[in-house]
Amino acid sequence: MDRTAVTVPLEPPSFVHVGTDLLSEVQHEVTADQGVVVISDDTVRELHGAALEALAEAPTFSLPAGEDGKTLPHLEKALDFMAASGLERNGLVITLGGGSVSDLGGLAASLYKRGISVLHCPTTLLAQVDASVGGKTAVNLAAGKNLAGTFHQPRAVFCDVRTLTTLPPEQCRSGLGEVVKTALLSGYGFFDFLEANHAGLAAGETNLMREVVLRCVRLKAGLVATDETDQGQRQVLNLGHTFAHAIEHVSGYGRVPHGVAVAVGLTLALAASNIQGLLADQDLAGRTEDLLRNLGLPASLPELRERHGLLLPSEKLIAAMLHDKKSAAGLPRFVLLQGPGEAVRGREITAAVLDFLLE
Ligand SMILES: NC(=O)c1ccc[n+]([C@@H]2O[C@H](COP(=O)([O-])OP(=O)(O)OC[C@H]3O[C@@H](n4cnc5c(N)ncnc54)[C@H](O)[C@@H]3O)[C@@H](O)[C@H]2O)c1
Repeated sequence: MDRTAVTVPLEPPSFVHVGTDLLSEVQHEVTADQGVVVISDDTVRELHGAALEALAEAPTFSLPAGEDGKTLPHLEKALDFMAASGLERNGLVITLGGGSVSDLGGLAASLYKRGISVLHCPTTLLAQVDASVGGKTAVNLAAGKNLAGTFHQPRAVFCDVRTLTTLPPEQCRSGLGEVVKTALLSGYGFFDFLEANHAGLAAGETNLMREVVLRCVRLKAGLVATDETDQGQRQVLNLGHTFAHAIEHVSGYGRVPHGVAVAVGLTLALAASNIQGLLADQDLAGRTEDLLRNLGLPASLPELRERHGLLLPSEKLIAAMLHDKKSAAGLPRFVLLQGPGEAVRGREITAAVLDFLLE
């Protein structure tokens, strides 16, 4: 076992452990008088359920894998399962899986008996670098993604990077899209590190995964501590996301993995930043495109269309942005960049520029 802990300095604080062979440690978080329910998905339970060792006998609720499980009917089933398991107010929900599982499990924990503790064991790169940290929970509604949710901070998060070795390559690439976003929000140090190590990262080398998860968790922990409920500075984490949400919406949720859509969103946000004269570093957009391609990600909308066999017409993408839940006064708002580590939020992009970027 080898771990580093990052504190999310809230009241009470939350702890994110990053390392290898961590799942066997989770049992020590459970007190003698505490009931536990594990929430996982069919795939992850099969692959990694046994690693929870002493907790392998705990009642486990299994969701269908991926977005299919992140719905109100499955939330209701999870809550019924928790009640049938006799979970008390001092009980603990442990989630084991990707962001779909931690989002639903966190929501179930926040609702059950008006809120019980939750601990996340994220098993995708995307969930380790993003979804499991910060306390956002959600399920999808027919009207849109993540429309019903709460803020409910996990008591602890255990990012065991060895679980990432079983990830399908497309899921690994999806996580790397969010990693590149975090590097752009962090500064040149992290960005240069990704460029220097792109081959090992694309191959999913465990040591490199550990390093990027740690760097991403540190940045997110700092932002969450200053703005827990996403009213201000935390919103910089949406860099590339207004574009990405539109891509996911128009292509049909689940067709393009979230982080892959984010990768394209980053290139569009950088292009918009250039057009608005914000970016001092004229090489950054090109370097980011090269980095994304080296990590196996699409680096433009045409590349994404071709790779996934999608049309993604610009008028549909723009219409989807107008309905993005982060729009203010009916206008889509964007996070743009002045340089690595220098994000500006709440920026508008004119219709003409959007047309140009999305054609
Ligand atoms: N709460 C937040 O702050 C936040 C942030 C970002 C994303 N999200 C949410 O996260 C969700 C996406 O999460 P995700 O990308 O982690 O995917 P996911 O949870 O939907 O899982 C994707 C697939 O990977 C499989 N999988 C998971 N771990 C595996 C492993 N170790 N080995 C093999 N297969 C594995 C799953 O079974 C599933 O089939 C979205 O619903 C998104 O809205 C939430």
